[in-house]
Amino acid sequence: MYPLYRPIVFLLSPESAHHLTVTMLKLAGNLAPTRALIKALYYPKVNGPAIDLLGLHFANPIGMAAGYDKDGEGWRGLAALGFGHIELGTVTVNPQDGNAKPRIFRIPEERAVINRCGFPNYGAEYMLKRMNGKRPKDLVLGVSIGKNKTTPLENAEDDYLKLIDLFAEKSDYLAVNVSSPNTPGLRELQEKGRFDRLLRAVAAKKAEVSQKYQKNMPIVVKLAPELNDDELDECLDVILDTGLDGVIISNTSLNRHGLKSPKASEFGGLSGVPIMAHSTQLIRNVARRTEGKLPIIASGGVMNVADAQEKLDAGAKLVQLYTGMIFEGPELPGKIIRSGLRY
Ligand SMILES: Cc1cc2nc3c(=O)[nH]c(=O)nc-3n(C[C@H](O)[C@H](O)[C@H](O)COP(=O)(O)O)c2cc1C
Repeated sequence: MYPLYRPIVFLLSPESAHHLTVTMLKLAGNLAPTRALIKALYYPKVNGPAIDLLGLHFANPIGMAAGYDKDGEGWRGLAALGFGHIELGTVTVNPQDGNAKPRIFRIPEERAVINRCGFPNYGAEYMLKRMNGKRPKDLVLGVSIGKNKTTPLENAEDDYLKLIDLFAEKSDYLAVNVSSPNTPGLRELQEKGRFDRLLRAVAAKKAEVSQKYQKNMPIVVKLAPELNDDELDECLDVILDTGLDGVIISNTSLNRHGLKSPKASEFGGLSGVPIMAHSTQLIRNVARRTEGKLPIIASGGVMNVADAQEKLDAGAKLVQLYTGMIFEGPELPGKIIRSGLRY
């Protein structure tokens, strides 16, 4: 169906199309009859085996990546499409506008997107309210956390710790986002000294909230695709050493290798087909270096069943989508889940 109405969707600016979609998911997802209708249309009847990872139970390996449901508005609708997990956010402590518009650019001929959103969101309190209420059975709801643009890098830790405190009770897992290219300085948190300090503080807070809520609070870290081998090794050492729970490989890329579109010169993070191969290679590297001990969540360029299988074969345990939803539409998660993935 989506190929039929995609041209109409693409008449809208990417951001307007996104808001319209999230509003529809919100409206349809919040009412039982429309939720049932979405499920009837899209939800795969047959799941493969469930996955036990991070101490959680995932109905299937397919998840919605961070940045789609930034404020926790549409997740009930997204769950009805079949996603086994949804990563809300990236949320910041205080509301912020993000960068000036336009800030999302479609590149249809490359099946790619460049975005420089800069974490626009209504802030932690707003999101928390949207996480109340009954949850669909078997849905894993994670939250991606980041620092406010106005928080100096030296104080970034305060933002992350506060967000862990705020979201620990209502989130099934948390993702520490230190890899968005659109918040000035954020990626410097991946540098050895800063990364080590930040993750030690995060690990201590994890222990504190786990004790407080009498559960293990899984915390994963989302990394940038530009890390070279040494940098990746350093990050993995710290993650393993601090006992955090996993990695998301990877965020969007600043690299523009081979991109022919004039839009390649737009600043921001590239996603979709052009980042697939490199991001998958990173997964292989991480799986090899950690000897499969560290749970890997794949993100980057999954547009179809074969791509999802490739991520799993490379060593990922879960696979997230974003740009694929823009080009392939709401059928995509169901199509992949129904395909009989091997994992
Ligand atoms: C418009 C847009 C906004 C995004 N916002 C976030 C974000 O807030 N936090 C985050 O961790 N990743 C964000 N991402 C990155 C995605 O979560 C994902 O890691 C990336 O797009 C690669 O996957 P894909 O090729 O399937 O899109 C965003 C991506 C897009 C396209």
